[in-house]
Amino acid sequence: MTNKFPDNFWWGAAASAPQTEGASNVDGKSPTTWDVWHEREPEAFFNQVGPDLTSDVYHRYRDDIQLMKDMNLNSYRTSISWARLLPDGKTLNEKAVAYYRDYFQTMLDTGIEPVINLFHFDMPWWMMELGGWENADIIEHFAYYAKVAFEQFGDIVKNWATFNEPMVHIECGYLGDAHWPRVNDFKRAIQVGYHTLMAHFAAVRSFRQSGVEGKIGTILNLSPVYARSEEAADLEAQKWADLFHTRSLLDPIALNQFPQELVDILKEHDLLPTLYAEHDELLTQAIDFLGVNYYQPLRVKAREEIPSTLERPSSLYAGYDWPEKKMNKYRGWEIYERGIYDIAMRIKNDYGNVPWFISENGMGVADEERFIDESGIVQDTYRIEFIRDHLTWLLKSINEGSNCFGYHLWTFVDCWSWLNAYRNRYGYYRVDLENNLERTPKLSSFWLREIIEKNELDI
Ligand code: BG6
Repeated sequence: MTNKFPDNFWWGAAASAPQTEGASNVDGKSPTTWDVWHEREPEAFFNQVGPDLTSDVYHRYRDDIQLMKDMNLNSYRTSISWARLLPDGKTLNEKAVAYYRDYFQTMLDTGIEPVINLFHFDMPWWMMELGGWENADIIEHFAYYAKVAFEQFGDIVKNWATFNEPMVHIECGYLGDAHWPRVNDFKRAIQVGYHTLMAHFAAVRSFRQSGVEGKIGTILNLSPVYARSEEAADLEAQKWADLFHTRSLLDPIALNQFPQELVDILKEHDLLPTLYAEHDELLTQAIDFLGVNYYQPLRVKAREEIPSTLERPSSLYAGYDWPEKKMNKYRGWEIYERGIYDIAMRIKNDYGNVPWFISENGMGVADEERFIDESGIVQDTYRIEFIRDHLTWLLKSINEGSNCFGYHLWTFVDCWSWLNAYRNRYGYYRVDLENNLERTPKLSSFWLREIIEKNELDI
């Protein structure tokens, strides 16, 4: 067992355009669903803070990149805003091109590899008005947006992702109410998931056709599913939870096939989506790498009774409250460090050991100003412990042959978090909302800097 990470390991952080840029109504950008939702219902957002008040990266990216350098980061993931680049879906916004080119080039000039994602929950409003992910036309619109992005930035960006956590806009928007359009309908959610997958494949095809040199993948939130016990009914519950939450997207994306059992059960309940004309051809498009966002496991047990209609994945399992769980009480998420190892082994054993990296992991904590010391530094020892424990398991998996090539924390500078706005802070740097959005390093940034320098974990 070595404590060293592989050579050229990506040490970085992750963020997204809608959560960091601000400038939501500046230089020709059109509104996203988040902009419109916040305008209509500000009270739905923590402290009524919407996506116009973020860490203002649109104007401060150069300074932030210097702070990344100070921390020894060598890679950084963010996204392009579709609504900024193509405000009406067709017309190129030259100001957006100039901004993103300079942003990405500055990273490169500073020794930081830009990893650029195309969609991070931020549906342009014009597309939402056409039906959003429910309208099959979005596949073509998205592929066009991807093509434009590859043409405009493909000479400097060498690592691309199509989506961040596609399961989240599907579940939160169509089986819940944390994302617009807050629909609760399983059949519609499945159609949305299917269109999202086809849009992913269409974007990968567009990348291959563009002739741009580089790699393309996607970023999934993966929660290893653990059963309450080894009893058959609990294991059956685990199987279904895994099929719906993990394999439904991971199998087509990483293996180019849909799990047969999933297809069968959807057919049995008349829930299969309407297929897109180019389904067969698109399904052949392969990724170069996978990004994995890991925050928490999913624990399940058998339901007392299985309902006759399948209304949502959890019709087939029940959540299990593991008495020994350790919690991040601010976010209400279980902390289970070993999950990262179990994911790594699964990718190794079931998904051809495809190259992958941790594209998000992190700990959101409320009221972090409590931990500011006399020198003005947040003493986030809990975050250091969180990262160290996850890295320990990640290192073990690498020692056992996992093809993991990086670790990105969510996030670099505290950012705006959807309905939670600035309640929980995740960054290596604190942003001071009361003081001109000033950035201050937290203790964890100094700690990680050392780890990166040695490319080794002290354990
Ligand atoms: C990830 C998302 O799921 O978790 C981010 O990719 C998000 O966009 C992060 O901000 C933390 O979750 P939250 O809800 O606390 O912001």
